[in-house]
Amino acid sequence: MRQATVYIDSEALQYNLNRVKQLAPTAKIVSMVKANAYGHGVKDCLAALNSTDAFGVACLEEALQIRELGYQQPITLIEGIFSVDEMPIVLDNHLEVMVHHQQQVDWLRTHKEQYIKKGLKVWIKLNSGMNRLGFKVPEIIEVIHLLKADGFNCVLAMHFANADVESHPLNEQQKQQFLQVKAACSPILASCCNSAAIFKWPELNFDFVRPGIMLYGASPFAEQSAHDLDIRPVMTFTAEIIALNHIQAGESVGYGSTFIAEQEMDIAIVSIGYGDGYPRAYLKQNYVSVHGKATRVIGRVAMDMIAIDVTGLNAPIGTVVELWGKNRLVDDVATANGTIGYELLCRMTGRPKRKKI
Ligand SMILES: Cc1ncc(COP(=O)(O)O)c(C=O)c1O
Repeated sequence: MRQATVYIDSEALQYNLNRVKQLAPTAKIVSMVKANAYGHGVKDCLAALNSTDAFGVACLEEALQIRELGYQQPITLIEGIFSVDEMPIVLDNHLEVMVHHQQQVDWLRTHKEQYIKKGLKVWIKLNSGMNRLGFKVPEIIEVIHLLKADGFNCVLAMHFANADVESHPLNEQQKQQFLQVKAACSPILASCCNSAAIFKWPELNFDFVRPGIMLYGASPFAEQSAHDLDIRPVMTFTAEIIALNHIQAGESVGYGSTFIAEQEMDIAIVSIGYGDGYPRAYLKQNYVSVHGKATRVIGRVAMDMIAIDVTGLNAPIGTVVELWGKNRLVDDVATANGTIGYELLCRMTGRPKRKKI
């Protein structure tokens, strides 16, 4: 059988959740499990994250999947509802909604008595410079005052555009605007920290933190690895050597013959490709790990196969190759491919087998 396997390490997930608890001891934790738990498989991850205070997802469908699996924690729809007919489902399933534009406020206020009676929690999003979702400063203060006066249970929310970049000038602007709105709407629950902000700004933890990538053991920072941050990779992605070739100097490997051997070498063909979610377009030399040793990927990544340089290695057919995991960090594979760990994890396909460990 073709061996392309994704292992999900529940203990690593629990360890990382505990890291969030250490870093933000007084805040409630909204574990971000959108996009199929960042590609890890929401079903396996929910069980390991069961001690979280709440979950965060992008849309109703993702929230309903969590309810269908039997989890009762609060769930925040971080983009809110997309049409008013989603509201009864939100209420029936005890979900919480973000509001980030006027139409969503109008939808809420049309049947406000019913929503307030049901205790609906409403997160109101500040646009403090990211210019994605949310209300700008004077406007959000009005919206919050209105919703509070109606009797809604409100949370002020914001998302940093550059929390991973220490010196970015927008960080200060975003922090100041958040604090200004928080003060103007006091008392109000507040939430602005994603993984990078949890590590960097403990003073901004407030009532809820919203960790995503750190739960999965990948780093939000370009210059600090998962090991540096004491978080553990949750996903290990492996395949096996399915063929071996001894080639001479001048021979090429793979589509486009982009790799030409400079000397005699042993190459191994590994049962993984972009059809499984392994990235094709590497910018820098990419590596896999064989017996814990960094081993070069050579030539083009194909849909089902890659070639690696096993010269001098004892790596017969059947040898397990780690594409990413504890030895070869997903963030390093991402850097070699001009992307971020988030993307590689989220775009895993359903083709590799999945195993919980
Ligand atoms: C609103 C919001 N909060 C929190 C997160 C989690 O961010 P991270 O994965 O960087 O921790 C995200 C992720 O995109 C988000 O959109």
